[in-house]
Amino acid sequence: MHTLTIKNLDQIQETARQFIKLMGDNTVFAFHGNMGAGKTTFIKAVCEELGVDDPVNSPTFAIINEYRSATTGELIYHFDCYRLDKIEEAYDLGAEDYFASGALCFIEWPDKIEELLPYDCVNVHIAETENGARSITLDI
Ligand SMILES: Nc1ncnc2c1ncn2[C@@H]1O[C@H](COP(=O)(O)OP(=O)(O)OP(=O)(O)O)[C@@H](O)[C@H]1O
Ligand SMILES: [Mg+2]
Repeated sequence: MHTLTIKNLDQIQETARQFIKLMGDNTVFAFHGNMGAGKTTFIKAVCEELGVDDPVNSPTFAIINEYRSATTGELIYHFDCYRLDKIEEAYDLGAEDYFASGALCFIEWPDKIEELLPYDCVNVHIAETENGARSITLDI
């Protein structure tokens, strides 16, 4: 288990780089944390470090968002399962295929699709600590 800290937003890219070093060969990451904990903000920082130029916080944020790294050409999938009402919707969207694809998958509100997550999914917990800092714990 590893714990990283984002002291403030000025430092988030550095923490994103530390996170990427810890990712290893894992591809599916489940981001747990309360509303407003900073899941989207951190995933955006990680995607930027991986070479994604497209806006990660588009106003038409869908349940599954696809980005492409301009540096490696690899696809990255960002799931926000908050608005999923039924697990069947995730099956219909083909969530399992994305998880098995070998592409990086970053998932917000993974508890909504728990039964669909692969066994080797890495759990990440984000929480606000004192003075607005964030702790990021990875179960690897
Ligand atoms: N590391 C951080 N330090 C300071 N502020 C942050 C940090 N991360 C996020 N924030 C701020 O907290 C707010 C919520 O962040 P964000 O949208 O990333 O949370 P979230 O966990 O994705 O929430 P939701 O569950 O609603 O999707 C934003 O205003 C953002 O600027
Ligand atoms: Mg979010």
